[in-house]
Amino acid sequence: MIPHDTIMSIIDTVRIEEVVSDFVSLKKRGANLIGVCPFHKEKTPSFIVSPAKGIFKCFGCGKAGDSVRFVMEHEHYSYPEALRYLANKYGIIIEEKEQSAEEIVAQNEREKMFNINTFAQQYFSETMKNNEEGLAIGMSYFKERGFRDAIINKFQLGYCLNQRDAFIQHAIKNGYSKELLLKIGLASGTEERMYDKYQGRVIFPIHNLTGKVIGFGARILSSDKTKAKYLNSPESEIYNKSQTLYGIYFAKNEISRLDNCILVEGYADVLSMHQAGIENTVASSGTSLTTEQIRLISRYTKNITILYDGDSAGIHAALRGTDMILEEGMNVRIVVLPPDEDPDSFVQHNPIEVVRDYIDKNAKDFISFKTQLLLKDAANNPIKKAEVVKDIVNTISVIPDAIFRATYIKECSRMMEMSEQTLMNELNKLLRAKIRKNNGIQQNQEVVTEDVKAEPQNINVDTVPIGFYQEQELVKLLLMYGDKEVDIDGVDENNEPIIYKVSVASLIVDDLKNDDLLFKDETHKIVFNIYDKALDDGVLPKEQYFVSHENPKISELAANLLSSPYKLDNWEKKEIKVKKEEDVLARLVVTSVLRFKDMVLDEKRNELTRQIMETTDIDDQLILMTKKKRLDDLRIKINHELGIVIAK
Ligand code: CTP
Ligand code: MN
Repeated sequence: MIPHDTIMSIIDTVRIEEVVSDFVSLKKRGANLIGVCPFHKEKTPSFIVSPAKGIFKCFGCGKAGDSVRFVMEHEHYSYPEALRYLANKYGIIIEEKEQSAEEIVAQNEREKMFNINTFAQQYFSETMKNNEEGLAIGMSYFKERGFRDAIINKFQLGYCLNQRDAFIQHAIKNGYSKELLLKIGLASGTEERMYDKYQGRVIFPIHNLTGKVIGFGARILSSDKTKAKYLNSPESEIYNKSQTLYGIYFAKNEISRLDNCILVEGYADVLSMHQAGIENTVASSGTSLTTEQIRLISRYTKNITILYDGDSAGIHAALRGTDMILEEGMNVRIVVLPPDEDPDSFVQHNPIEVVRDYIDKNAKDFISFKTQLLLKDAANNPIKKAEVVKDIVNTISVIPDAIFRATYIKECSRMMEMSEQTLMNELNKLLRAKIRKNNGIQQNQEVVTEDVKAEPQNINVDTVPIGFYQEQELVKLLLMYGDKEVDIDGVDENNEPIIYKVSVASLIVDDLKNDDLLFKDETHKIVFNIYDKALDDGVLPKEQYFVSHENPKISELAANLLSSPYKLDNWEKKEIKVKKEEDVLARLVVTSVLRFKDMVLDEKRNELTRQIMETTDIDDQLILMTKKKRLDDLRIKINHELGIVIAK
């Protein structure tokens, strides 16, 4: 835990231009600096750094944030990791909060586990390189499979002697406890009768993101079918199978650089691919792909290429993985290898150009993949074909983004020679069923917008929810001027006109709360609530607070909104006589609030109109119409006010 005031002093000390220029070469451009964006490929620079605001923003890919965010994005660090990096750069000492007794015990326990794993890894590697049996059995096995020294060393492969307890004896001599050896899974049996778990097996250490050994996979060398081919470390405080990918430590930079991750099944596949120079490869080894593993990949890229065996188990696994990847909003392509090949054998049997070319040419998006796969035995069978279509549309329905769904519907319509509208209807049916399952019978907005007719040519990209921009306008005013005070005309208790001072935050937040109006967008809501609470506490946050916010959505939103600020003086120029900035601001706020209300009322009014059309009960109709009348009156009033404010 980094104490809060240390975080604040790091944020106060860092200079965005110094942080960024460690990685990007920047040129001066007016008050700002400009460079080539490190987050996407570009030739002409569109990456801006503002020393005054302490933020960066790329006008090409849209990434934006403060120094902490930059380091997190660039180095793939977590929030505390990025803070530590910056503290280190600026010589700020982090005095960690005192840990509780339990925390210290847990910390020590984890340290011990890392230590014993490193100890074991070194022993197994040494054994394979220097021991007679190690060389004759372990090393020659790897050599026979075509693994060269460089890859053996890099992945720290090893061998465990085919003896009862050679390793355990060595470990105990070096002070490691029996209890720990059993717990971490290097030993089997009981403390009284303990033996080496990995006897006579070759060893694949498993590394975490920072390169520490968290577990082992151990492969048998005989073809004895009665014994497990692989023995793996049990789960522990430092090893969680479903959150680990084999090879991620060695692959992460290349995944990020190539903006693509190749997913294979086994240890051997990863080794062969890396050896061949295809280093953006990881394996889910031992477990079927999990959502956590997919999220781990998504820290580096949104694109996954699945490279599984061409056998039915491989294809089945690929299909399952596909839906999970799509559900995470990521892109997936599938490569099916020639019969009887797995990535390991395929890479070992073919020159690298052939492999790359094969992957390039055979990577199919999931629709082509499923269509070809499922249609194989359904060619002229309309019932089978309908099932295939349902299956594909079902997969499309898991994609969270409406635009992508629409694109895939189009693709499916082309491949299956079916009308887009039919497919869209099927999709909407599924989406509605899902929503009903998730939250009672509530309707979901996105579904409603998708209910529009499928357009023959262009996709309906207008998926920004109604009112989003009006909300954003208010959020921007909050962030930029929330703590500023403006003069507002009002009346006192005797109805005498007075001018009173209020903060912009109060003007927006209190007004909306009075009318029970809320933002819809989740990030906007958070900003709203922060101001709401701050108004209660009497201390309003400054824009820096949001730019450096721990929640990446907030800091990105703030950096984005603040990098295209209002030019209050532009407003002034349009006026006949020059007004004070505060006057202009007050008007800007009041009109924005009114516009927002107008939008909300308009939406409600449309909803009422729909209900009036739908209901057949005359009493209900009357009630609804009265409601609608009230809304109309309110809107007239608001527009009247808007007119007054604008004309003023
Ligand atoms: N696996 C496992 N336990 C098993 C079998 C497999 O944990 N009993 C995991 C391993 O991570 C393995 C992966 O599943 O790497 C894929 O299995 P398989 O294709 O059988 O293994 P390969 O690594 O390809 O091994 P090899 O090429 O040496 O046969
Ligand atoms: Mn294999």
